Amino acid sequence: SFHPDRILRVTTQVYPLDCTTRYSVVINGSIPGPELRFREGDKIWIRVYNDIKDENLTIHWHGLTMRMSPFSDGTPAASQWPIPPMHFFDYEFELQSGDAGTYFYHSHVGFGAVTAYGALIIEERVKDSPPFVYDDERTLVLTDIFYRNDSDIVGGLMGDPFLWSGETFNVALNGHSRSPNATADKESTSCSYGVVTVKPSTTYRFRFIGGTVLSHVFLAFEGHGSMTVIEVDGHYVSPVEVDHIEIGSGQRFSVLFKSKSIEELSVDRINGKDQYWLQMETRTRALITVSFAVLAYSDADIPDRFTKPTTPPLLLPTESFTSGWLEDELWPLPSRPYDDSFPQASEVTRRIFINVQQNFNVNGTKKVMWHQNGAPWFENSVPEPYLVSLYKNSKSAFPDYENALKHGGYDTKTKTYPAKLGEVLEIIWQNVGNTQSGTVETHPFHAHGDHYWDAGCGTGSYSETVAEAMLQDRMRYGGPIKRDTTNLYRTPPATTTTPGAIVSWRAWRLRVRNPGVWMVHCHIVQHMMMGMQAVFVFGGKNDLKPLTKEQAALYLEFGGQAYGNAT
Ligand code: C2O
Ligand code: CU
Repeated sequence: SFHPDRILRVTTQVYPLDCTTRYSVVINGSIPGPELRFREGDKIWIRVYNDIKDENLTIHWHGLTMRMSPFSDGTPAASQWPIPPMHFFDYEFELQSGDAGTYFYHSHVGFGAVTAYGALIIEERVKDSPPFVYDDERTLVLTDIFYRNDSDIVGGLMGDPFLWSGETFNVALNGHSRSPNATADKESTSCSYGVVTVKPSTTYRFRFIGGTVLSHVFLAFEGHGSMTVIEVDGHYVSPVEVDHIEIGSGQRFSVLFKSKSIEELSVDRINGKDQYWLQMETRTRALITVSFAVLAYSDADIPDRFTKPTTPPLLLPTESFTSGWLEDELWPLPSRPYDDSFPQASEVTRRIFINVQQNFNVNGTKKVMWHQNGAPWFENSVPEPYLVSLYKNSKSAFPDYENALKHGGYDTKTKTYPAKLGEVLEIIWQNVGNTQSGTVETHPFHAHGDHYWDAGCGTGSYSETVAEAMLQDRMRYGGPIKRDTTNLYRTPPATTTTPGAIVSWRAWRLRVRNPGVWMVHCHIVQHMMMGMQAVFVFGGKNDLKPLTKEQAALYLEFGGQAYGNAT
């Protein structure tokens, strides 16, 4: 008989968080949920129980490409009927060579991802080893702290009148944070800094996961030298030295980190220092939140939970507005056997522009929405998930490709962006000022279903000449890298521009090879709730893998009520 590789049980409960408690979606009774570790080549079967009494659920495996398992992507209204209360769904997928890297999983319903998340690490096959040498590794998941509960926040974001969620209160490390307002008597494990424990003279792979819902975090360790970036969004890169990390919602970076030697530590101890702050500051928004975690050199060193630096020990850089962090310095790691080649301009079959823009007072309401080429998309935009419709009624449900070509790639009938297998798309995102206020923000755009080559970004509107020159420059170092979450920057330094003006662009190149229905969206969950999502449909009806009778009954019928019953 078969056993799932993992079982996740998802509930809502009042859970201790940031020195208070909050009604939250929780996986296996803890925030974060368990760290999942698999290997390339594994066939994975994860059973997810929705034990929440009054809400649907899906779990998304962020950064994995779900080749040939489009029903396992975990997007409600796109890839599956969401799991109804007191039911379970089996997510199945196969990991391939080249998948080794750092990922995470999270709820893809409402605001659930703020607490319902966990690390997902893919290791090399047993006989293989990573292309970099290190002694040990640590996982560092960053998340935001919000006190209002999920349904209040979503109600406000989608409401008339619109009500903003507020800014993050704190950035947590591996679920731990200590509110700046906490008092000494509040000590508990839910009211203490996150701690990374290391041994002296050791090289670690630190896996940073941007699990925030909103925050773009700048971070660095006190009293330590540079780190070496070796992996970005699930792909190894040519090593690059950095003194700090900038990580947006949905992004992942692995760095090699050298801990201090015993001698260095004893010098520090003579000077009264035996703990080091990890300083985390939010950027790109008007309000900067300064949060802390601790790097400790043995359990004995775990710091007094009440000490808080009176002044931040580190001076982190200010935001850069022109090119963003590291983007001119990330190159593929040469001779990785698994990556296909970067598609040259001559291979591009279509260019799709997507202009993103915030609108106030939509249709005479007091709502605020984000539009892509004039259209928002919501979890409840369609009565039936697209992939289900494609399988049930392939004639009329499939996007009208010709109609899409007439509308810049967007099929106005199905509200999707269709593409044929084998096409090479160039997707150009452009960041447009709010129609009335001119507000601009930074958006970490994430693609499901496959990685794309990050083919450049710049200020103002997209220019083919500028973009091509930038690419030619990059080609000398090995060309663009593959990613799944990259920033569309707000620029220039002001948070506003002329209403309707384009302030920045970002280009992705993508080989269409993975049939299914794939979301692309800003990874800021507030923005998603406000419509900042779109749907790509890859492949035609002959490309969809036929379902067995049992699969068809399970995936297609009864709005998910056919899923396993757990009552
Ligand atoms: Cu981590 Cu659709 O997102
Ligand atoms: Cu956004």
